[in-house]
Amino acid sequence: MSVKLDLIYILDIFFIISVFVIETEGLVKFFGHIKALDDLSIHVPEGISGLIGPNGAGKTTTINILAGLVKPTSGKARVLGLDVWSESLGIRRKTRFMLEGQALPKSVRVFTFLNHVAKLCGSDREEVLKVLGIVGLKDFVDRRIESLSAGMMQRLRLAQALLGSPELIILDEPTANLDPIGRVEILELIAKMNKEYGINFLVSTHILPELEEIAGWVSIIDKGKAVIEGKPGEIIPRGLYNEYRIISSNNKRLMMLLRERGFEVEDKGGYLLVKSDIHWRLYRVLGELEEYRIYVYKIEAVGTSLEEVFRKVIVGE
Ligand SMILES: Nc1ncnc2c1ncn2[C@@H]1O[C@H](COP(=O)(O)OP(=O)(O)OP(=O)(O)O)[C@@H](O)[C@H]1O
Ligand SMILES: [Mg+2]
Repeated sequence: MSVKLDLIYILDIFFIISVFVIETEGLVKFFGHIKALDDLSIHVPEGISGLIGPNGAGKTTTINILAGLVKPTSGKARVLGLDVWSESLGIRRKTRFMLEGQALPKSVRVFTFLNHVAKLCGSDREEVLKVLGIVGLKDFVDRRIESLSAGMMQRLRLAQALLGSPELIILDEPTANLDPIGRVEILELIAKMNKEYGINFLVSTHILPELEEIAGWVSIIDKGKAVIEGKPGEIIPRGLYNEYRIISSNNKRLMMLLRERGFEVEDKGGYLLVKSDIHWRLYRVLGELEEYRIYVYKIEAVGTSLEEVFRKVIVGE
């Protein structure tokens, strides 16, 4: 065996036994004078993982580096054992990205668009039909993309990411701009894709409790640095997320309906304060209330701000 083959063999073994699908080591990124990443080291295992941080934490910069679109000032990053800068093509073959602000061609029809993407990634018409079924867009194949709702567009982006049988899908804030129901639907789809097709996911969000139910791992970052990493149940203190502020088109009626469903609700004049242990349960119940024509204008978790988590996790308050 030549020295070169030997090396390939060793690297192969390293890849097989490597437990992380994504690893960054001391990543630093400057945009001019702005330090977007400040010695960021994260380790993401197989399964569904969250990259969580407040606005400006460095999530998009990290993901753009993983996608080979932004070159780090210093430090290293590997995706599926491959270097993000020198082996970007290899990564692209096995990994799909859904990036922030990625535009879709508005006037193109759903099927035409996916068929085009399929050709680009060596997939075919049959797979397009399959992924349309998975994301629940089969009835919308002839629609122009511009006529889709925000939730449907996110489904289409997911469908696009599924083509070409990737090992890993990296999504930058896939639930942004969706209502609570749309958010749960997208997250449930991700869980389904992981379970049925074994695809690994890294999902970024600034809403911590959102991923609790589906993620086996979270890497929390702030100001370009890793704050803490681990299994959500082990690193996120219990009881942090149980109050929500809701403003709807009919608060009085909503209060009654939520109370009937076992929630503790207070009318605070202008908004309702609702207690719920599990983030998704409240979302689901709000979804079921659609038939009463009550529109939820705003829902925010009280006491779930990442800063509060940071204080509890790091300072131990
Ligand atoms: N192209 C750029 N030029 C200058 N500064 C940038 C650029 N991209 C990002 N930054 C800065 O780097 C920091 C990290 O930004 P980044 O977009 O990675 O954060 P984020 O966690 O994705 O935030 P958000 O939740 O708002 O999407 C911010 O201070 C941002 O202003
Ligand atoms: Mg971002």
